[in-house]
Amino acid sequence: QRHLISAADLTRDDAVLILDTAEEMSRVADRPIKKLPTLRGRTVVNLFFEDSTRTRISFEAAEKRLSADVINFSAKGSSVSKGESLKDTAQTLEAMGVDAVVIRHGASGAPYRLANSGWIDAAVINAGDGTHQHPTQALLDAFTMRRRLVGRDAGLGHDLAGRRVTIVGDVLHSRVARSNVDLLHTLGAEVTLVAPPTLLPVGIETWPCAVSYDLDSTLPKSDAVMMLRVQRERMNAAFFPTEREYSRRYGLDGDRMARMPEHAIVMHPGPMVRGMEITAQVADSERCTAIEQVANGVSIRMAVLYLLLGGNEPATTTRPPVSH
Ligand code: CP
Repeated sequence: QRHLISAADLTRDDAVLILDTAEEMSRVADRPIKKLPTLRGRTVVNLFFEDSTRTRISFEAAEKRLSADVINFSAKGSSVSKGESLKDTAQTLEAMGVDAVVIRHGASGAPYRLANSGWIDAAVINAGDGTHQHPTQALLDAFTMRRRLVGRDAGLGHDLAGRRVTIVGDVLHSRVARSNVDLLHTLGAEVTLVAPPTLLPVGIETWPCAVSYDLDSTLPKSDAVMMLRVQRERMNAAFFPTEREYSRRYGLDGDRMARMPEHAIVMHPGPMVRGMEITAQVADSERCTAIEQVANGVSIRMAVLYLLLGGNEPATTTRPPVSH
């Protein structure tokens, strides 16, 4: 069975194939009828144990655009609240004949466990697990960068070699940062993480990227600046620096954005906390791609589902992404 668990599992060719397939899929959104028959008769379940707006809705949109039958499962209001385990929940879904499980879980490693447990036969797609991985987010971010920095048609077949990406904020708790560092490194980009020392993980020196504590000196050397939300829900104690100090040193406002090269873009995976890591002025500026990233997420998720589940239509591509 094929799965997508971690951005680190993708080769450069896997990733470029997904980005190119997503470009094809994005053309469906331009049609009067935004549907392909590709996954007709296939069932996909969206298994969400953690809150989500963008990922959950865009997976559902992607599945429906590919004509799959969609089952939405949210842990809230399910028998998980009565103590049912992941194994029993998964096997209940398996009994209903699902072909793919899209899973978001608060525990790092839950999608890997599901994919390798033998509990189910379905393909497993990680929609975010704990502080570990969020591979489709990294793919949609790379897709957005390639479109904006290389070009929609010019980018086909290309990676992000030599592009300079700065990721700013709560790296410690961020599966988005981990996934992006892995994928951007594979695609040839140069990544710099900017964060207070308290919000960097142990072992950061082994990651394939640079680290800086000085945002102002990094901005002029960036083609894309990705702002991260401070994930207070994953923190046990009050974090240092204070919110005010954090915004002053690591927040992106209009003055800081003016230090970026003219072509450079501001990215945010969402949800944004306006006034904390990003001001409303920057979030609403034309340089901010946050909304574009959401739209691109549908195309990326269509591409991943198409490549993992295969369609009835001939593939225009050569090889599916394989993980584990
Ligand atoms: N970017 C992201 O994963 O957003 P959601 O938590 O709303 O899905």
